[in-house]
Amino acid sequence: MTDKKKVLLSGMQPTGMLHLGNYEGALKNWVDLQNSGKYEIYFCIVDWHALTTAYENTADIVERIYQITADYIAAGLDPEKVAIFVQSDVKQHAELQLLLSMITPIPWLERVPSYKEKVETLGLDSYGFLGYPLLQTADIIIYRADGVPVGKDQLPHLELTREIVRRFNYIYGDVFPEPEALLSDAPYIPGADRRKMSKSYDNHICMGDPPDKIKKRVMSYYTDETKIHRGDSGHTDTCPVFALLKIYAPDEIDKIKSDCESGNTEWGCVKCKKLLADRIIEKFTPFREKREQLLTDREKLRKILADGAERARIRAEETMKLVRKALKMWSEQ
Ligand code: TRP
Repeated sequence: MTDKKKVLLSGMQPTGMLHLGNYEGALKNWVDLQNSGKYEIYFCIVDWHALTTAYENTADIVERIYQITADYIAAGLDPEKVAIFVQSDVKQHAELQLLLSMITPIPWLERVPSYKEKVETLGLDSYGFLGYPLLQTADIIIYRADGVPVGKDQLPHLELTREIVRRFNYIYGDVFPEPEALLSDAPYIPGADRRKMSKSYDNHICMGDPPDKIKKRVMSYYTDETKIHRGDSGHTDTCPVFALLKIYAPDEIDKIKSDCESGNTEWGCVKCKKLLADRIIEKFTPFREKREQLLTDREKLRKILADGAERARIRAEETMKLVRKALKMWSEQ
């Protein structure tokens, strides 16, 4: 790792097994960024963030950390090239969040869209939950990150991060660069009910699902509701199965489109689904085998995360020294 490389940080909640939306929307991009060799990269599994909502149900978090780590590595993240680690192993994140909280006006946090929405829908009202985006800010800037590979949904959080950086640098002097979002052009990945694929909707397909489970889920997908008989002409632009076939069967897509739209009686929705299931199974079988093998050696996964945390701590502590100095804290005088 040389000084010239730009630093990237991204974070993910320990949600357990990843689904196709996670893969196509984020993970694939991270693997490409890693393989470009242009960056020094930190990937943080944010277990403290999980506690902002799941504070009563903490028993699953450890297992989810193993599952997600196996998924990341099986999908191509290389722990030799990027630091993969657990947030709570790098206590400096918490120290930085505390110090940042001193200069963060409460209304800045209250106006973050996901906060307002979750207060209304989930009735969350804890101090920790209000501080979610501030902890995220600490995750990012503790590595003095230049870029943050995320989806569009994270842009308000990143805007807040930049505002806090400006305020900190203004008050205490330049310590942090203003991090930029690295948006990937992720395709739309619909779930079985045609909403965005999400575990909370239970409409998802996991990359590590066994073939029969994938098949069952794919067969349950909505298609174009106006196409009732095979001879009816279908609308591929609104069909969720077609959206996935574009990704997983690009070689067949022109034929499928014309058969569906012209109402070719030889080719109906069931055939589309069978093809889709076969393609997803084919693509992710090597991945599933690799993740299963990784999960048989928990000690090794633990060691990978411990190594990642060690590397992360070096950079995080370096930053905290600068921060404590800038704040004229006791320890740095
Ligand atoms: N809020 C992010 C999400 O829901 C997770 C996250 C926490 C994160 N800390 C981060 C993302 C730092 C990027 C950078 O997906």
